Amino acid sequence: MVSHLRPEHFIGKPRHVAIVMDGNGRWAMQQQLPRIAGHEAGAKAVKRIVEHCPKLGIEVLTLFAFSRENWGRPSEEVSALMRLFLHTLHTETESLREKNIQIRFIGDRKAFSVELQAEMRQAERVTKDNDGLILVIAANYSGRWDIANAAMKLSKDVLSNEADITAIDEEGFAAYLSMSDLPELDLLIRTSGEVRISNFLLWQIAYAELYFTDILWPDFGPAEFDQAIQEFASRKRRFGLTNEQLTQAEV
Ligand code: FPP
Repeated sequence: MVSHLRPEHFIGKPRHVAIVMDGNGRWAMQQQLPRIAGHEAGAKAVKRIVEHCPKLGIEVLTLFAFSRENWGRPSEEVSALMRLFLHTLHTETESLREKNIQIRFIGDRKAFSVELQAEMRQAERVTKDNDGLILVIAANYSGRWDIANAAMKLSKDVLSNEADITAIDEEGFAAYLSMSDLPELDLLIRTSGEVRISNFLLWQIAYAELYFTDILWPDFGPAEFDQAIQEFASRKRRFGLTNEQLTQAEV
């Protein structure tokens, strides 16, 4: 049996869920509101889902908050999003600490303002010992960047003789990627009807179930999340094995 298979992979409950939170702009348009009102409503949806996950025993929730490509949006929207991130972090960190939620950020954070970077560090520091849900915020993240960054870090280790080039395999390489210490991704959800990965978790989706819904992110609540989890539970994950092998693994 291949090494990445663990008994929990056959159980119908995801440990690690990731979400592409799409549709804020369209939601705002439908309500005849400016786009940023859609992002603000999106931030409220984040809070609802984050608070819901621990009730389902989910261990890791990874949210795509800002892609490397999002810098190309109109400057007023980018600035408004940065203000929203800063404000949300500032007001919510204490509540995360109280709820035993650990927050982490993945992505190249050097591109953010000094103020926002400081707020990110502070939120990570304040919640680092929490052992409830791990909330991972992907900010200035892209899947290709993650892989290229891992290759760069590995190359440095090879050059300094800390890594052996002949011993590099999938597992060894994956250790250099974001979230390498967390459970493997089980379920990727994307809202708003788009059926794309958009350079999100490319390596990590290898064996994840994909779930697409037409609901716009601000309208996505616990009931919609539960529906995705139910759908996940009904899928048969085979990891390249046969149905007969799976039946044996389940007993
Ligand atoms: C995609 O919708 C959404 C984003 C690019 C930003 C996501 C941000 C939030 C949900 C707000 C707060 C998040 C945190 C973590 C505090 P879109 O603008 O592409 O929607 P559209 O496709 O309908 O235009």
